[in-house]
Amino acid sequence: MQADIERILISRQQIEHRIKEMARQIVADHSNGGEVTLVPILTGAMIFCADLMRQMPIELQIGMMTVSSYPGAATATQGSQLVGQQVKNVTGRHILLLDDILDSGGTLKLVIPLLERLKPASVKVCVLLRKDRPSAREVQADYVGFDIPDEFVVGYGLDYDDYYRNLPDIVTLKREAIEKRK
Ligand code: IMP
Ligand code: MG
Repeated sequence: MQADIERILISRQQIEHRIKEMARQIVADHSNGGEVTLVPILTGAMIFCADLMRQMPIELQIGMMTVSSYPGAATATQGSQLVGQQVKNVTGRHILLLDDILDSGGTLKLVIPLLERLKPASVKVCVLLRKDRPSAREVQADYVGFDIPDEFVVGYGLDYDDYYRNLPDIVTLKREAIEKRK
């Protein structure tokens, strides 16, 4: 797995530091009361959510949505599909949607209207990464960890063909590593 890494784009230390900052900001923004529900978009946001929530010393609940947009060995979005949902009792609560990366924006455009139907008090969006492409800016993200170049990245929850999610850093892959799973 290590041999497949081309370069480290964002190190685990940078991620840890930025997540602490984001959590402080989110907690401050929710200090006026109101109940909070975190909704990570699985599978990619799993690790981000686990780390972020442990830096948030406030009462909160969790829901989950599973969306597939890069099935199998895809390195570009194939269109987002909701494949599962466990979001309960969010009426009147402040939802904070968490995703690993904002790329085409298709995932958030699919999920936000579905959550709004449940009549929450608000829906805010928090992404760890945002790619530098015009479509990513069409979706309003309230919290962004890092703006990155328009490159395919893996690690820290992000996958290629469901592999590499367990890498602690966010990295790019060597061309051979991408080719071998095609
Ligand atoms: P969007 O729907 O195109 O904005 O993309 C969001 C989803 O696509 C993310 O939640 C990821 O699962 C996946 N994705 C987008 N870019 C990458 C990438 O560079 N590496 C791995 N997965 C990605
Ligand atoms: Mg995803």
